[in-house]
Amino acid sequence: MLGAGASLARLLRRAPPLCLQRRSRGGRLRVREALAAQAPGGDVRVQGWVRSVRSQKEVLFLDINDGTSLQNLQVVADPKLESRDLGFGSSVEVQGKLVKSHNRKQNVELQAEDINIVGPCDPMAFPFKLKARHAMDYTRQFPHLRCRTNTFSSLLRIRSKATAAIHSYFQDNGYVHIHTPVITSNDCEGAGELFQVETASKTSEPGKNPHFFNVPAFLTVSGQLHLEVVTGGFVRAFTFGPTFRAENSQSRRHLSEFYMVEAEISFTESLQDIMQEMENLFKASAAAILSRCQEDVELFHKYVAPGHKDKLDHMLKNKFVIMSYSEAIEVLKKAPEAFSFKPEWGCDLKKEHEKYLVKHCADIPVFIINYPYDLKPFYARENEDGPQRTVEAVDLLVPGVGELYGGSLREERLHVLQSRLDRLGLLDTYQWYLDLRQFGTVPHGGFGMGFERYLQCILGVDNIKDVIPFPRFTHCCLL
Ligand code: 4AD
Ligand code: MG
Repeated sequence: MLGAGASLARLLRRAPPLCLQRRSRGGRLRVREALAAQAPGGDVRVQGWVRSVRSQKEVLFLDINDGTSLQNLQVVADPKLESRDLGFGSSVEVQGKLVKSHNRKQNVELQAEDINIVGPCDPMAFPFKLKARHAMDYTRQFPHLRCRTNTFSSLLRIRSKATAAIHSYFQDNGYVHIHTPVITSNDCEGAGELFQVETASKTSEPGKNPHFFNVPAFLTVSGQLHLEVVTGGFVRAFTFGPTFRAENSQSRRHLSEFYMVEAEISFTESLQDIMQEMENLFKASAAAILSRCQEDVELFHKYVAPGHKDKLDHMLKNKFVIMSYSEAIEVLKKAPEAFSFKPEWGCDLKKEHEKYLVKHCADIPVFIINYPYDLKPFYARENEDGPQRTVEAVDLLVPGVGELYGGSLREERLHVLQSRLDRLGLLDTYQWYLDLRQFGTVPHGGFGMGFERYLQCILGVDNIKDVIPFPRFTHCCLL
C-alpha cells in the first residue's frame, strides 16, 4: 500500500517496462496510486471505466475508476477529445499529466492529452445509471456487471482484505493453514444436507463399481474432521474454504455455497479456551478491516446500514456474554413475546429465539453453551451431567444475523465415541476417526465461522446474497 506522501517518480519506477506499453509514452498508474501521489508532474497513463462525464463549453470532465479505490480519478480534457462513445460505463485509457487539482475534494487530477476508448458502453442498455444509487436487490440481478457499482466494488475490496486479515490472525497465532478437501466421502455434520459428486457422463461399465471414487462422494459441508486429523500432530490448524449445503432455503442468511473459517486446537479441555479464540478472531479481524478499508466500510455504514457503526462499536468494546442453553430456554419461556415456536428444553433455537436472546443480552454477541445431546453432531463431547443429556458445544449468536459460529470440544474418549457411533450405525464409516482416539488422543476442540455472515455482521448487510460475488441458493445458480 502507498503512503500518503508517495512521490510520483517512485510510483512510475514501478510502472511496466516500455515494451509492454502500447501506444503510450507515460508510465501506467492505478487510480489508487494516482490519488496518493503528492508531488504531481510527469507523463502517466491510467486505465479504467468511466463513472461520469461532464461536458462544458471549454472543458470536459471525466471520473474514472479501476476498482483499486472507492474514489474516482478526475480527468480534465479539452472538449475536442470528447466522442460519441465516451459515456458512462465505457472503458478508457487516458494519457496525460498528473497535476495539482483546484478541487478541494482531491489532491490531483489527470490533464488528458489523449483519450483512447477501449470499449464503448451503451448507457441506455447498461443496467446501471449515472449518479443513481441502485437498491441491493436490483443490483443482485446482474452478477456479471455489479462489480461496476460503488457498493459492490467496495464489498469486493473489503472481502479481499477481510480474507487476508483472517489468514494473518491465524498465522500470527501459531496455526498451520490446511487445504482441506472439497470432495469428501463423509457427512461431518450428519445432517444429510449433501450435494453428491458424480461424473456428468455416465460411463460405468456393467459389473464395475458405479462410483467414480468407488464410494459415494460429496461436496464438503465442513473441513472439521480433516482438521482433526491434522491436529493429531499439530497443536493448532485452520482452514478457510468453500463449503456446500443442500439446505432448501432462500433465507437472507443461507447459501448453498459459502466460505467457512474453521480452526481446531489440541490440548484443550476447556470450552472457555475455544470461546476466547472465537472472540479474539472476531475482534482482531474486525479491527484490521476497519483500519484497512476505512472508506469502503464507511460507505456501508453511511448508505447501506445507517446506524450500524454504533452497533458494531458496541459489539467490539464489550466482552461477549456466555449463557447456557438451559438458561436460554428459561429466558425464552419468561419472554413476553408470542413466539411461533414455543421454546421447550430440547428444541432447536429458531431465528426468532436467537433474535430475542441477542436483544436480551443488550445486543452484545452471546455464546450459548452446553446444548442437548441430541441437537449436536456425533463428535461433540458429552458432559458429565447425566447419560446423554448435554454436550460441550457452543454457538455464537450476533445481532441481525443470529448464529455466526458453531463449535465444540470434541469427544476424545475412545469408548464414549465408539458407543455413540455404534448407536448411529457409523462404526465402519468412522473407523479412521476412531483411530485418532486410539493413537495418541488429546483433548481438543474447535469452531467454524460463516465468512459471509461475518461480513453481514460487520457491514450491516441484510441479505447474505449481497456479500458474496456469485451467490448460489435453491433454484439459482447464475453464471
Ligand atoms: O454450525 P456449523 O454447521 O458448524 C460446523 O460445520 C462445524 N463442523 C464447524 C467446526 O466446528 N469446525 O457451521 C458453522 C457456521 C455457522 O455458524 C454459520 O455461520 C455458517 O457456518 N453456515 C452458513 N452460512 C451460510 N449459509 C449456510 N447455509 C450456512 N450453514 C452454516
Ligand atoms: Mg450450527
